[in-house]
Amino acid sequence: MLVKKFSILFLSAVILFSGCKKDDCNCDCDLSTYNPTAYTVDRPQGFPEMVIPADNPMTVEGIALGRKLFYEKRLSDDNTMSCATCHAQQTFAFTDRGTRFSTGIDGIEGTRNAMPIVNLGWAPRFFWDGRAFSLEEQALMPVTNPIEMHQRWSDAVSKLEADSAYPQLFLKAFGVCEIDSLVVAKAIAQFERTMISGNSLFERYVNNNENVLPDPTSVLSGFSLFNRDKTITLSGGDCFHCHGASGGLFTDNAFHNNGLDSAFTDVGLEAVTGSPNDRGKFKSPTLRNIELTAPYMHDGRFATLEEVIEHYNSGGHASPTLDPLMKNVGVGLELSQQDKTDLINFLKSLTDMDYVNNPQFSDPH
Ligand code: HEC
Ligand code: HEC
Repeated sequence: MLVKKFSILFLSAVILFSGCKKDDCNCDCDLSTYNPTAYTVDRPQGFPEMVIPADNPMTVEGIALGRKLFYEKRLSDDNTMSCATCHAQQTFAFTDRGTRFSTGIDGIEGTRNAMPIVNLGWAPRFFWDGRAFSLEEQALMPVTNPIEMHQRWSDAVSKLEADSAYPQLFLKAFGVCEIDSLVVAKAIAQFERTMISGNSLFERYVNNNENVLPDPTSVLSGFSLFNRDKTITLSGGDCFHCHGASGGLFTDNAFHNNGLDSAFTDVGLEAVTGSPNDRGKFKSPTLRNIELTAPYMHDGRFATLEEVIEHYNSGGHASPTLDPLMKNVGVGLELSQQDKTDLINFLKSLTDMDYVNNPQFSDPH
């Protein structure tokens, strides 16, 4: 009898004790402290409304947490690689420091050029081939990708749970006592939605009359070429269809075959839709901060903007899915040397020093 009593006591002590272990119960998780501060996106002049998913409203706490996670190396299996390893410093507009392909934690090189993280709150699809449909969905992928961060989500989450700061930060941002991959992705997506570039040198010159362009005449001629079709009497670059300046994004957020090849090793959008009509189509990238994001195209094949302009000037390669807007295949745009310089000067005027220097986007660790 005594033995039985003792073991019951012992058992309840064990239950009590384990009940207070940090892992099992959440003694530190006081839901009454969850009172996040709503955040309103500061939309640049002329930009469309940003559509924010109803299940992931922006909050000051969520954004701050997302920023910390974006720079968090423990999201990779060997704790050496964060999102910001490939989407490097602001000086590269969050691309991979000028390298053609990124290398993951196991030393394996990918086959596509890292994309800039800018104005993605306005994009409906992500990756060169559009295989992710929200920033939340996208953010789940690099962690488990075997050639990138190569870690199970359960391991990534355990590391964050064991940290002295993260559990409280997730509680404050999302009102959760347990971290999971979905809240990690939500936080990162919130941070990415704040990564807005809308005050380029071009806009500062045109909208505010600031004396920031070394050669305004050339930049304005380049802008005009950018927005003009080639005609019998006038040269034109015809870029605006796919990299439209209206709406401020410098991308139509759609998928096109811009004539890089006539046969494709990387089929692009076709791999996602299964339709041969989508062969060789890739997401039109934004041209904002383009000077900082070399090399260019999905496979980083062009090292300079001069090479990009030569590609378009050549008219591109014919193939069954070549975009009808690539109208000058076989003939080329026939741009003069001055036209090319003007186009490049215009592209370089899309650099946004506010974006590049914004302290809100830097590593908070
Ligand atoms: C090993 C390098 C590497 C790491 C680490 C990495 N990325 Fe990327 N990222 C890339 C590459 C390369 C692409 C383009 C891949 C493709 O299209 O298939 C890309 C594409 C993206 C895009 C799509 C942008 C667009 O315009 O569609 C987003 C968003 C993004 N990454 C965010 C992240 C986040 C968030 C993390 C961390 C959770 C991360 N990346 C980690 C290399 C990396
Ligand atoms: C038919 C649509 C279309 C037209 C017209 C077009 N582009 Fe593009 N552009 C794209 C697509 C799609 C890509 C990405 C292609 C890829 O990587 O396979 C791209 C890529 C680029 C890039 C590289 C971006 C990066 O981040 O790597 C630059 C720069 C560029 N275009 C500038 C221009 C200029 C300048 C013009 C006019 C002379 C122009 N484009 C006309 C669709 C177009």
